[in-house]
Amino acid sequence: MKITRNAYCGNLRLEDVDKEVALCGFARTIRKLGSIAFIDLVDATGTVQIIEEDPSLFPDVRNEYVLMVEGKVRKKKDPNPKLLTGAIEVVASKITVLSKAENPPFIIADKSDALEETRLAYRYLDLRRPVLQKNLRTRAKILTATRKYLEEHGFLEVETPYMGLSSPEGATEYLVPSRVHPGAFYALDQSPQQYKQLLMIAGLERYYQIARCFRDEDLRADRQPEFTQIDMEMSYLDQEEILTLMEGLLAAIFKEAGGIEIKTPLRRMPYAEAVGRYGSDKPDTRYGMLLEGYDELLGKGFMNKEEGKAVRGFVLEGGAAMLSRKKQDELNLEAQKFGFRSYVYLRLENGTLLGSFVKFLSEEEQAALIKKAGLKEGDALILAYGDYEPVCFGLGALRTKLASELGLVKPDTYDLLWVVDFPMFEKREGEDGYKALHHPFTRPRDEDLPLLDTDPTKVLSYAYDIIINGYEAGGGTLRIYDHDIQEKIFEVMGLSAEEAEKKFGWFLGAFRYGVPPHGGIALGLERLSMILCGTSNIRDVLAFPKNLQATDPMTKAPQKVDQSQLDLLGLSIKE
Ligand code: AMO
Repeated sequence: MKITRNAYCGNLRLEDVDKEVALCGFARTIRKLGSIAFIDLVDATGTVQIIEEDPSLFPDVRNEYVLMVEGKVRKKKDPNPKLLTGAIEVVASKITVLSKAENPPFIIADKSDALEETRLAYRYLDLRRPVLQKNLRTRAKILTATRKYLEEHGFLEVETPYMGLSSPEGATEYLVPSRVHPGAFYALDQSPQQYKQLLMIAGLERYYQIARCFRDEDLRADRQPEFTQIDMEMSYLDQEEILTLMEGLLAAIFKEAGGIEIKTPLRRMPYAEAVGRYGSDKPDTRYGMLLEGYDELLGKGFMNKEEGKAVRGFVLEGGAAMLSRKKQDELNLEAQKFGFRSYVYLRLENGTLLGSFVKFLSEEEQAALIKKAGLKEGDALILAYGDYEPVCFGLGALRTKLASELGLVKPDTYDLLWVVDFPMFEKREGEDGYKALHHPFTRPRDEDLPLLDTDPTKVLSYAYDIIINGYEAGGGTLRIYDHDIQEKIFEVMGLSAEEAEKKFGWFLGAFRYGVPPHGGIALGLERLSMILCGTSNIRDVLAFPKNLQATDPMTKAPQKVDQSQLDLLGLSIKE
């Protein structure tokens, strides 16, 4: 069968009236009206309406049949302004059925009420929905804009191995058994971190890669076990120079993939401010409810005056009416996840401060609190008491939850900022030594080096995250290139020279042979795609995603394998 296609459904316009066309595509939404039949013909460019003036002359057509339609373009009597091709229709002279289709398990339309699990099991049908095709196009446009910008700025695309050496850092790894070396395993790379640093030591100066990364972590709406980074590393640039270069890239991506102009330079917010004022290391600055300190309340009621305890809170405008008893109970349950008992709710009604905590305050103290918080009639003040960081993060989570439930975020607004000045280490309860907040190759700020000996928790690092609409869209750091500083970091982490050698020896060896100062960043391609496609579900921006249980409902992967395959690899399964 010869396909003689000479036009595309979605491209036909008024100028094409009277043209003889041959179109290919899926038949969808077939309607019969009196003696005429209408078929929506859909190809990768869009949809056009086909008319069968005498259906008895044409083959039987059902939904999702693949057709070649030959006919003539004609002006529509009643144009459909919602459709780009809505001013015309094609009067069929011949219809050839190229492939028949069974009735699909769900209706193929942008608005689908089919369960996501069903849609993923038939992803090839799900992907016929225009909205998903649009998302994949946006994703591809991000990559095109990225390649163009980075090539123009002297970056070289280099691929690094996916199968590497297992390393105990970060998330759990996916392991790949080796047939040639029974009992030995490769690990799938969590990111090309060490390789890209070695490329700098190799003298490449500017590297990039669209890199697939693999992490066996608990999945969320914005996490997949297998995802893609726009990964970069550069030599001889300081933090500001890297951020500026990245702002250019982000501006190009937003413009070319989303038609959105972003204003640069972007705001730089210290980590301490992000946590203290927004209760998050990925602050969404599109709405208010900023956190304030209310330590003057320490020592009142149950808010004991103990070392390290803090009281913080934020004002919810008009919140008195919004926070029902039931809602408060629900929120208090969540407070416990952050390690404190409950939130404290105060509200201003008829000029009086109300709430069970008020009994601990004198009249003057109440007046001072109203004034400090700037409470207006009907507002609520939400407070939390406990250790400083958990209190901040708890309030921050509540802040984002309320903003989304109450619709405080304006649609189609894009809020980009850098969070900088991250602490170098975190101290984990019950663990010896300190853990690197990013990774142990992150360079501490020059001025903080003396603190490595005295107070490591106060050391800040050259680390930066790009935050967009409350998502961590990317992150990076300047790297240590001085052997002594690297040793010192391992020492603070409680890692002996032998242990460091065992874990990272293959990598650290390279640092003996001349190291250009370097740094880099990785942007999450899915996160950028989600933001530009306006979806909060990461699965909407991947062709074949895994579900929240990390399985693929279509292939049913992962599955057990045959004994013969295990034997070949020298593996046995413990029941
Ligand atoms: P990091 O681990 O912060 O840094 O990852 C960089 C960015 O990748 C995205 N991301 C994910 N996206 C989807 N699913 C996941 N499971 C997932 N995990 C991370 C996020 C994140 O900001 N090598 C360093 C970068 C560097 O220092 O240069 C790294 O991997 O958007």
